[in-house]
Amino acid sequence: KPEDLSAMAQVLELACEFFVHRLRHREQGRVAREYLARRGLSPELVQEHRLGYAPPGWNHLIRHLQSKGIDPELVVRSGLAVRSDKGTVYDRFRHRLIFPITAPNGSLVAFGGRSLDDTEPKYLNSPETALYHKGRTLYQYATAMEACRATRQVILVEGYMDLLAFHARGFRRVVATLGTALTPHQVRLLQRLADEVILVYDGDASGQKAMLRALPLFLRQGLAASCVTLPLGMDPDDYLKAHGLDAFTALLGTRRELLHFAVDAIASTWNGTSQDKVRVVKECADLVSDVQDPVLREDMARLLGMRLFLSEHAVLQHFSRVPKTAS
Ligand code: GTP
Ligand code: MN
Ligand code: MN
Ligand code: MN
Ligand code: MN
Repeated sequence: KPEDLSAMAQVLELACEFFVHRLRHREQGRVAREYLARRGLSPELVQEHRLGYAPPGWNHLIRHLQSKGIDPELVVRSGLAVRSDKGTVYDRFRHRLIFPITAPNGSLVAFGGRSLDDTEPKYLNSPETALYHKGRTLYQYATAMEACRATRQVILVEGYMDLLAFHARGFRRVVATLGTALTPHQVRLLQRLADEVILVYDGDASGQKAMLRALPLFLRQGLAASCVTLPLGMDPDDYLKAHGLDAFTALLGTRRELLHFAVDAIASTWNGTSQDKVRVVKECADLVSDVQDPVLREDMARLLGMRLFLSEHAVLQHFSRVPKTAS
């Protein structure tokens, strides 16, 4: 129902104002403000991004919205409240730092909340609602749309804090996946704002895996993708804090095509035996099955051949023998 969507949008807007006010509140917001300061986020940046604070307690937001005549059921449908098994309704976000999330057109659709202590999960997000579709959203896409116009190049990071670390340094050609696996829809969104996507995921095993998983989506969409690997244990936020934006820009100059990175990463798992060569070639063939361009396929075959001490010819034969796998 369209009237429900606009009522939901109004609830989200009122909630956003509520969270912003709680963060500004002298006592209530202190812990969250101190946390933001520790993480290097200035009051100006906080204001620009409308960051907020959800106070502890089970129904502060629900009661606030109720005082404005809003039915708790609508708050549940908007993703801001949860209905318990017993039928009672309570606030989803409690004692969390709040990040508003907008749709590609810039309209407010969801929130993310970071815990301020060791409460799990570290991040909590709105569930999918009639307005919010995770797989069709990229954090700060609307901002990047403006910023990427001239260069047609965008940086893709994993987290809220990574993106904000860039914004804090005046760099806005960046969007974040918010930790979820990249979807074909998101890749199409990226293609609207850039001709090259540079993945800068966390410098850990899961970041590396996520980059490998993203590759087929870029290949299928025919969108150029490259990547930078950060020092082990660092994410973009850590890196910018330790080395600054200039060092990061220099690092960007060392970026590699995602396809090359992937072939290298897979080749480096070779255990040295002949039998294992077959496994490695098969794994790469799986990737290359998404590559249409014969020049690229040959390039990959040469690269892999060098790594495994095989002829390019032998590798290419394997590439063409393996049927395209559906996924
Ligand atoms: P900080 O610890 O605050 O610097 O966050 P981070 O962004 O470095 O966290 P991490 O690298 O663990 O995760 C990257 C992104 O994945 C986060 O920014 C979140 O968007 C998302 N994420 C991480 N943990 C969770 C979680 O427990 N639940 C959900 N829904 N998302 C998460
Ligand atoms: Mn959906
Ligand atoms: Mn991580
Ligand atoms: Mn991280
Ligand atoms: Mn981090």
